[in-house]
Amino acid sequence: MNSLFKENIEDILDIIEEGIHIVDSSGIIVYYNRFAAKLDSINPEEALGRHILEIYPSLTEETSTILRVIKTGKPILNYEQTFKNYKGIQITTVNSTIPIISGKRVMGALEVSRDITEVKKLSLKVVDLQAELMKDVRPEQSYDGNKAFFNFADIIGISEEMLKLKKDAMAVASSPSPIMVYGETGTGKELLLHAIHNASPRRDKPFIAQNCAALPETLLESILFGTVKGSFTGAENRPGLFEIANGGTLFLDEINSMSLQLQAKLLRVIQDGNVRRVGDTKTIHVDVRIVTAINIDPRQAVMDKTLRDDLFFRLSVISLKVPPLRERKGDIHFLIEHFIKKYNKKLHKNVKYISSSVEQFFLNYAWPGNVRELEHAIEGAMNITEGEIIESKCLPHYLGEIFNKFDFTKEDREIKSLKEALYNLERSLIEKALKKCEGNVTKAAELLDIPRQTLQYKISKYIIKTGNAGF
Ligand SMILES: Nc1ncnc2c1ncn2[C@@H]1O[C@H](COP(=O)(O)OP(=O)(O)OP(=O)(O)O)[C@@H](O)[C@H]1O
Ligand SMILES: [Mg+2]
Repeated sequence: MNSLFKENIEDILDIIEEGIHIVDSSGIIVYYNRFAAKLDSINPEEALGRHILEIYPSLTEETSTILRVIKTGKPILNYEQTFKNYKGIQITTVNSTIPIISGKRVMGALEVSRDITEVKKLSLKVVDLQAELMKDVRPEQSYDGNKAFFNFADIIGISEEMLKLKKDAMAVASSPSPIMVYGETGTGKELLLHAIHNASPRRDKPFIAQNCAALPETLLESILFGTVKGSFTGAENRPGLFEIANGGTLFLDEINSMSLQLQAKLLRVIQDGNVRRVGDTKTIHVDVRIVTAINIDPRQAVMDKTLRDDLFFRLSVISLKVPPLRERKGDIHFLIEHFIKKYNKKLHKNVKYISSSVEQFFLNYAWPGNVRELEHAIEGAMNITEGEIIESKCLPHYLGEIFNKFDFTKEDREIKSLKEALYNLERSLIEKALKKCEGNVTKAAELLDIPRQTLQYKISKYIIKTGNAGF
């Protein structure tokens, strides 16, 4: 380690937004960064030299991750912990704790803590609100809470790939079987799943979406399956999303971000339809259609071991792939028109179209962010377009730069080759017609459905020999 780094390490550790504690083998705090002090509502000076359980009175030898690591010498990674800090405020953190080992002796432990108190509060609030909305629904009422907003008509696309996708999706809408949608980011996976739900017999029941990448494992588990009071610090009686989505659809986005342990629990629930709230002994039967999305090839995710193979087979009973935008360029024109209309309304504009050079550029750009990127490009450009035409100067800066480097002459070359192809096609059709009519120009013109003079002109243009020229 160079000395500049060594000298500044404390300053560096003080500016990061994670709590860092280092304790010695007897549990005495020897280092405590500024963020940890903020989490615990205590001055670093007050904490140094004191035992960890003095600072965290709600923890015990058994529940403190740091003391467990000192005892076992084994790391504990990404462990969610809810405790009361020095001032009695309830905090939830996700901790990774590793032993500090010298030779074979455990000299102490280092713990890095991420504060998820607010994230947890908000996530649970969302679940409570969803449950609240559901409570008011009597069986005869249609459900108006967690809605899927989009229909098949909202999915713009006339390319062969999109027409096939929509047809397949409509065909499976009424089934209860799980669906896995695979597609790059921004291709419209969520949109498609909304449309499927709205075309299904479950349309009047909830459509609940949960991103599996957004939350730490234990919190996601509580949110999906629910909790019972007292099962862990701060736990309340709370239904999980499976219960809330009963009768409807549960959409698990970025399924490969879910931990493998939780994937195993999910598999069990899907197999028998019985959910057990965290800390509960009894199970509740639910009827939920599980739909999932993934933005890498699911077989690759299985190979990378981020998706369990048994869960993959169970979830991809129906599997749909949304192609990237660069593979369906025929849709670009219609998407542009659609977004211009949408943002004319939203932004009170009167844009009519985009300039032909921008459209040409859009047709050739690779769109790594797919339809979402195209939509934002148009929204951004329309914000600064004053007249009726979106010009290249209105494009978002990063796209404008690529536009300026775009080789329009390549496009000209392609157009030239199109001319050549048409020329060859015309010439070969004329040759075939003349051969069939044994060189009789009048009959060949009738066959080709063009005036005799036109054919005569074309023959001389292409210097095709008629008569006994060997057709
Ligand atoms: N075919 C389409 N027609 C109209 N709008 C579309 C289409 N595809 C995508 N969009 C729009 O693009 C945006 C992104 O779509 P969506 O959220 O469904 O993508 P996604 O595949 O779920 O992306 P991510 O993997 O990043 O979550 C949304 O605003 C959606 O309405
Ligand atoms: Mg999505």
